[in-house]
Amino acid sequence: MIVPFMLAPMAELSHRPLRELIEGFGGCDEYFTEMISAGALVGSGPFESFYIDGGPCPEKLVYQLVASDPGHLAAAAAILDRLECLGIDINMGCSAPAITRTGAGVRWMVSPDKAAAMIARVRAATQKRLSVKLRTGMEDNFDYLVEFCRRLEAEGVELITLHPRTGREKFRGKARWDYVSRLRSELGIPVAGNGDIACPEDLVHRAESGCCDAVMAGRAAVRAPWLFAVAKGASGDIDLEDVGLRFLEFLSKYQPPEFYISRARRFFNYFCDNLKWGTYVKNLLNRETELSSVTKAWSAYFEERPEERSARLER
Ligand SMILES: Cc1cc2nc3c(=O)[nH]c(=O)nc-3n(C[C@H](O)[C@H](O)[C@H](O)COP(=O)(O)O)c2cc1C
Repeated sequence: MIVPFMLAPMAELSHRPLRELIEGFGGCDEYFTEMISAGALVGSGPFESFYIDGGPCPEKLVYQLVASDPGHLAAAAAILDRLECLGIDINMGCSAPAITRTGAGVRWMVSPDKAAAMIARVRAATQKRLSVKLRTGMEDNFDYLVEFCRRLEAEGVELITLHPRTGREKFRGKARWDYVSRLRSELGIPVAGNGDIACPEDLVHRAESGCCDAVMAGRAAVRAPWLFAVAKGASGDIDLEDVGLRFLEFLSKYQPPEFYISRARRFFNYFCDNLKWGTYVKNLLNRETELSSVTKAWSAYFEERPEERSARLER
């Protein structure tokens, strides 16, 4: 059985330009947004309209919120509730120090009572599908994870996405996918699995294995925006220069100028892995400070090495 494919929430990456690119190849079933600060959304921060831009397919969009303040999370959920979307997700997995220091992200997992009370408030604020994305916890303790998730389920969470690493591990080691199927058998709600999907074959393997109710991929979908389409059977030849140029066009169309360079760097940091001289190109692009010069440098590389342009997509 093929289960839904999801794009992972990734700060500075899971925005409209990436969704436009992925959708152009055939798309995936659900697009999680990058984490959106609930406090900034409630306080009408200057860039919020870009963070909540649900294009190109709001019906497949899941807004992810991050905060440590339950009031901010509930108020932000009420704002998002009025927008077209598939659901609202609460970030209980981010292990970046800037986030955990504030008590947000994976820090929620150390306080089951507080997390359950927060979820109750968010639940009361929205009719949308409410989900939580989390890690195994701060420590590797499966029984603790199950109890924690049961509390969330009891408060009305409808889907859990598990990235089965601890907060301390960040990206080290391997994602413990056996935890995904074990957690699924302990809960009454669907469980999506996430972590270390590297290619279309991995996506299909996890989807067909019956271990989870949905498969989420992050970094691999930035490296290969065609990942989901190829997993679903698409094949053909593509022009890598053209894909990069399309991304840059979407960036200038759908993001504010203040974001151009940071978002371009983030994207090409992964996308350049498709090239033989990827590290060299990353360094070239990282030197640029204007979007127009990123575009020029990108095209100049293919003028020098036209043989790098074409890539074959198939499983
Ligand atoms: C650059 C970057 C930013 C991320 N930002 C978020 C985020 O905003 N919210 C979140 O829940 N996880 C975030 N993550 C974690 C991913 O959603 C995902 O759990 C992780 O990358 C593992 O999946 P993968 O192996 O398919 O990439 C981020 C990961 C990366 C690499």
